[in-house]
Amino acid sequence: MKIFLDTADLTEIRRANDAGLIDGITTNPSLVAKVAGERDPKEIYREICETVDGPVSLEVVGVDRETMVREGRKLAQIHENAVVKVPLTEDGLKACRDLVGEGIRVNVTLCFSVSQALLAAKAGASYVSPFVGRIDDISGEGMQLIHQIRQVYDNYGYDTEILAASIRHPMHVVESMLIGADCCTIPPKVLWQLSKHPLTDRGLEAFLADWNRLGAEL
Ligand code: G3P
Repeated sequence: MKIFLDTADLTEIRRANDAGLIDGITTNPSLVAKVAGERDPKEIYREICETVDGPVSLEVVGVDRETMVREGRKLAQIHENAVVKVPLTEDGLKACRDLVGEGIRVNVTLCFSVSQALLAAKAGASYVSPFVGRIDDISGEGMQLIHQIRQVYDNYGYDTEILAASIRHPMHVVESMLIGADCCTIPPKVLWQLSKHPLTDRGLEAFLADWNRLGAEL
């Protein structure tokens, strides 16, 4: 499964990228607003694309087809790693079809139903981003959506990649893998939680205590 980091924070991006653990980045207007300060978001996007050798999702902010296409072309020109993110609306689907027709990769985001995911595939999206955490947040079954999309895409042979998003904890990542999502975009905090286990900590402590009693050097 491909792991994307869900952030625009370059410090976090460099930390995960230096560990060789990530295959790409996803951003959204809220994540960029969190870190931009006085900086031009386009400069942040360029720096992210130059840092990570993989797809970097950059989201349009227009809501009509024409504006999304215009913004999408500009975002695509920032770097060859750029993937244009559009919302799963009628205009977003039309803009997706237009941008794909110009050879631009599109990630259709804010997906909350399998019927929406079907249309994202029909629009030629490279990725669809079902937001599992936000469904859970309102007492829904977020992972059920991943299951349904996997089944529909496999039934009809759609190439659109399922990019599980809005990840809240490690079990969202585990269940995404078990279901067969192609990618999962993970907040930095959750990424590092994946590495944690108390038995690992306890085992390492015991190994070192035993070794130190030897008083030997490697
Ligand atoms: O960036 C897309 C998505 O992962 C954000 O989800 O619910 O954490 O804002 P959320």
